[in-house]
Amino acid sequence: MTGPLDVLGVPGEINLDYAASAPCLRAAADAVTGLLPWYASVHRGAGALSAHCTLAYERARQTIGDFFGARTDDHVIVTRNTTDALNLLARALPAGTTVVTFAGEHHANLLPWPTGTVRLPVPDSPAAAVRTLDAALRELRRGPAGRATDRPVLVAVTGASNVTGECWPVAALARQAHRHGARIVVDAAQLAPHVPVDLAALDVDYLAVSGHKLYAPFGAGVLIGRADWLDAAPPYLAGGGATGHVGDATHDVRWATGPGRHEAGTPNLLGTVALAAVCTALAEADRAALHAREQALLTRLRTGLAALPEVVDLRTFGADAERVGIVSFVVAGRDSAEIAATLAREHRIGVRDGLFCAHPLARRLLAEAAARTGRRDLPPTALRVSFGLGSTADQVDRLLDALAAIVRPSGPARRQPAP
Ligand SMILES: Cc1ncc(COP(=O)(O)O)c(C=O)c1O
Repeated sequence: MTGPLDVLGVPGEINLDYAASAPCLRAAADAVTGLLPWYASVHRGAGALSAHCTLAYERARQTIGDFFGARTDDHVIVTRNTTDALNLLARALPAGTTVVTFAGEHHANLLPWPTGTVRLPVPDSPAAAVRTLDAALRELRRGPAGRATDRPVLVAVTGASNVTGECWPVAALARQAHRHGARIVVDAAQLAPHVPVDLAALDVDYLAVSGHKLYAPFGAGVLIGRADWLDAAPPYLAGGGATGHVGDATHDVRWATGPGRHEAGTPNLLGTVALAAVCTALAEADRAALHAREQALLTRLRTGLAALPEVVDLRTFGADAERVGIVSFVVAGRDSAEIAATLAREHRIGVRDGLFCAHPLARRLLAEAAARTGRRDLPPTALRVSFGLGSTADQVDRLLDALAAIVRPSGPARRQPAP
């Protein structure tokens, strides 16, 4: 039996690297397959196929916006991915905006922001994140030499860490930002695949999401949020589709407002429709049940890892923090790249190794892990296991068995956990 929440894969290959790119949801594949015969231009043709595709694209935009709780006056702008969405927002900031972020962010939420961005230290608990932000925004509002300032401020935070899987207190951070007259953008690249994310309910101003991490691997992402900055900013790309009028003189251009202003060029129809299909499938699913299932796998994995004495996990907030299905760890005395390669070669298990495009955070957590355990033989990079829809207890057990065999080749086999 197959269903819309099945993921595609290759028999025998165990994919535990969803946080990098999740597999394709059947619903996304079906939507793309269904549309392919109709494939034609979007916003650019008078034919029936083109009209069908234009409608499909705009319906998909609506579906994605609804799924993420967009307010009626928000824009839903189709991008390539989260990196693209955050770069777009960075270019749309009003002059003089100060961005405030944390040092624990993915590079996509560290590097696009302008000079003068405030990078707050990585907090050791969700409550500390809220307190640190409060203090920083209070200080910013006080202004230089105590002269109060009302210049725009944007807080940029992740919803869930791609290194530790820990969830950030997004709603509380949004309340704090708004209390100080700031706006907030949430990088939901890792949160959205695991829990419902609703812009209006969280009261955040902008949301950035990647389709390929949300089971829609056809190259679309979105930036959703407040229209005013986006409509006032220069277009992200200059070109066809972003204009209202182009005169003969070189600079006689009136740019469009609305999402089209930042979507010049032919849009990614199939990617957008695939992402919308995932949104529809997830909206119809029992998310609480999916979450409970994922949390059970997470407990199984973390319990199994904790039973391997050489394994040290990476964490920011503490062992009991709320998490999504992502775990990073090191094996003391062993090279992480070599372990990842052995898992792939000998066990057909795909995981990620490295510093996960969050170098400042990963380095800090590796140092913290060394201090916590007193071990001096931890490697300089880590391993990351991540999962979601379609992942099974058997896959987790196979990984744990493989790790036990790699870590202690001649030692006793891992004790089997309860089913
Ligand atoms: C938390 C987080 N933000 C942003 C990104 C960037 O996503 P993309 O590569 O799809 O732009 C990633 C990718 O790993 C991520 O984990």
